[in-house]
Amino acid sequence: MKAIILSGGKGTRLRPLTYTGAKQLVPVANKPILWYGIESIVEAGITEIGIIISPETGEEVKAKTGNGDRFGANITYILQEKPAGLAHAVKVAQSFLADSPFVMYLGDNLVQSELGLFLEHFHSNHLDALTLLCPVENPSAFGVAEVDEKGRLLRLVEKPKVPPSNLALVGVYIFSSGIHGAIAAIQPSARGELEITDAIQTLIEQQKAVEARQIRGWWLDTGKKDDLLEANRVILDTCCMEPRIQGELDTESKIIGRVQLGVGTKVINSTIRGPVVIGENCHIENCFIGPYTSIADRVRMVDVDLEHSVLLQGATVEGIHHRIVDSLIGQRAQLTEAPKRPKAFRFMVGDDCQIELA
Ligand code: G1P
Repeated sequence: MKAIILSGGKGTRLRPLTYTGAKQLVPVANKPILWYGIESIVEAGITEIGIIISPETGEEVKAKTGNGDRFGANITYILQEKPAGLAHAVKVAQSFLADSPFVMYLGDNLVQSELGLFLEHFHSNHLDALTLLCPVENPSAFGVAEVDEKGRLLRLVEKPKVPPSNLALVGVYIFSSGIHGAIAAIQPSARGELEITDAIQTLIEQQKAVEARQIRGWWLDTGKKDDLLEANRVILDTCCMEPRIQGELDTESKIIGRVQLGVGTKVINSTIRGPVVIGENCHIENCFIGPYTSIADRVRMVDVDLEHSVLLQGATVEGIHHRIVDSLIGQRAQLTEAPKRPKAFRFMVGDDCQIELA
């Protein structure tokens, strides 16, 4: 059994962060989204992993993720020259996959489910494809499954205007090598891409063994700011985050609940109410940091009241005298000095931005 993880794409919905970086490397609870997928695959017992990268962000993904040693896996990078669809990515990976069955995992999806159980079902029932489904409120934004009253899969459609159900295709699929023939038989869709949904539909029409299973846990698509903040909240809430204080706290500072504080981080006259993760070499002074906040390495915060936010490496937030909530602040961004103004501010600030509230 092998796995491929798709880590290309342009990440247009997360701009401006994705002008300067891959969307799959944006951190959730201080860990790149992509790494959650790798860990879940390794946990299911698969160690031969191919990561599909794009010319734009491939080098960054490689440099950050490495050869797989840190995950106990063997990672091969496979270049997809153009974003021509999920089924096209499988085509590009064909020589890596050979005739092995495989898991295909979309690198911007976060899924709470036991991949191992689905793999077992796939193998013991000799399936050609197993897709995972999750009920959603906006099925038209996804691939959608039509199932009969017994839950058997009848039809799959990509982004239908009139969805046949509320069951969206989660970005995790398990295939036998039979999928390659189906991909060879399909044509590009209206958006000009080779859709994996169409290839699976072809398998259904060929009466191959295709099944769908509903996942029980959460599924988070991290495409947009609020989705990312929600993913951050859910991960901080549900993943057993052990309190771990490696930085320094002065006697005026207080930590409440589950908080992680990285090496070299200094906290002065501040209160931190978990769940919160703070990376290494940060400076936190005269601050209140509220629940569901992730702060990456080398962040500087002085005179700030903030919660439910994600700050990327090297950001500076100083002298903002109003509460900051629901914010995603990019690498090296600087927010400084605010006069007294009403209520809350909401930010989505890209890498290298500088904002002064005068
Ligand atoms: C892709 C698939 C879609 C699936 C979704 C899950 O959509 O084509 O069927 O529901 O991933 O994230 P895309 O991200 O290409 O719009």
